[in-house]
Amino acid sequence: MEKNGFVRSKSRRVYSLISIPDIRSFTLLYNQWTLLISLSLSLSHLISSHSIRLSLGWDRRGCAHYGLWINDFFIFVKKGFLGELRSYAMKLHTREQAPREGEASADKAKPMKEWAPTREGYLQYLVDSKVVYDCLESIVEENTEYEAFRSTGLERGEPLAADIAFFEKEYGMTVPSASSAGQEYAALLTDLSKSSPPAFMCHYYNVYFAHTAGGRAIGKQLSDALLEKKTLAFYQWEGTLKDHMDGVRASINGVAETWSAEEKQACLEATAPSFQYAGSLLRLLA
Ligand code: HEM
Repeated sequence: MEKNGFVRSKSRRVYSLISIPDIRSFTLLYNQWTLLISLSLSLSHLISSHSIRLSLGWDRRGCAHYGLWINDFFIFVKKGFLGELRSYAMKLHTREQAPREGEASADKAKPMKEWAPTREGYLQYLVDSKVVYDCLESIVEENTEYEAFRSTGLERGEPLAADIAFFEKEYGMTVPSASSAGQEYAALLTDLSKSSPPAFMCHYYNVYFAHTAGGRAIGKQLSDALLEKKTLAFYQWEGTLKDHMDGVRASINGVAETWSAEEKQACLEATAPSFQYAGSLLRLLA
């Protein structure tokens, strides 16, 4: 095998390229996110003297990528639907939130280092989050259309109930009613689950996956500041979190394969509202 350089894909990522001299049917293309195994389709006899190869691979997040080569020229890298959905979400982060991929202007969200969280605000956030997760979890339980999203291992309703009881017992706090942030988000989710399943899936993805990423960093900051470093049940999952996430990613990719181009677009475009609604819950902490 010989390492023969770099390619820059349309998605602006740089890949290293390794191929086995004289065996044109096999190429490895990789970077820190992606490993693509390129298999040549023998189309050369169709277009004389041109070698056409298709690349197919999965990145470490389980998203499929496709690439096309004509001779030694790499034409594109296309990610599976979940990869596109993730890109939409990552762009809406500020640089402070996600330094590698965030593109939103800094005034979109109060920087976390300026937050002044209180236990009252944290309890309110947990109560509102419980309304949202309970809503998502009952929608997937009650509608056969969403049955692939039952018992994924990502469910948060029960851990949140335990954490709310902990605040009540440990700190003698009275549990507040859910604020408009949680109630309005739950009402929107219920509506979308019937009126636009692709938009509903976008919110579903963002709510669960945001919590596994930035949500955990937020939990760590709040635990250090307010809870003598206790890790709440909200931030702990039974089994292996990555496996649960991979399962849900595969289910979203699977369901997206049944959608029209317009439905896929409706899903992608629900990303900004999902940030807006989830952001209104996060503001309870800031
Ligand atoms: C203070 C607020 C937030 C912070 C600090 C934050 C931070 C992060 C970080 C560090 C990542 C991981 C990036 C990587 O894979 O390298 C991430 C991923 C992500 N975030 Fe956020 N985020 C915040 C808010 C949000 C909100 C409001 C949403 C949407 C409701 C959201 C949705 C996502 C999604 C979907 C991912 C991708 C998860 C994955 O692919 O595993 N985030 N976030």
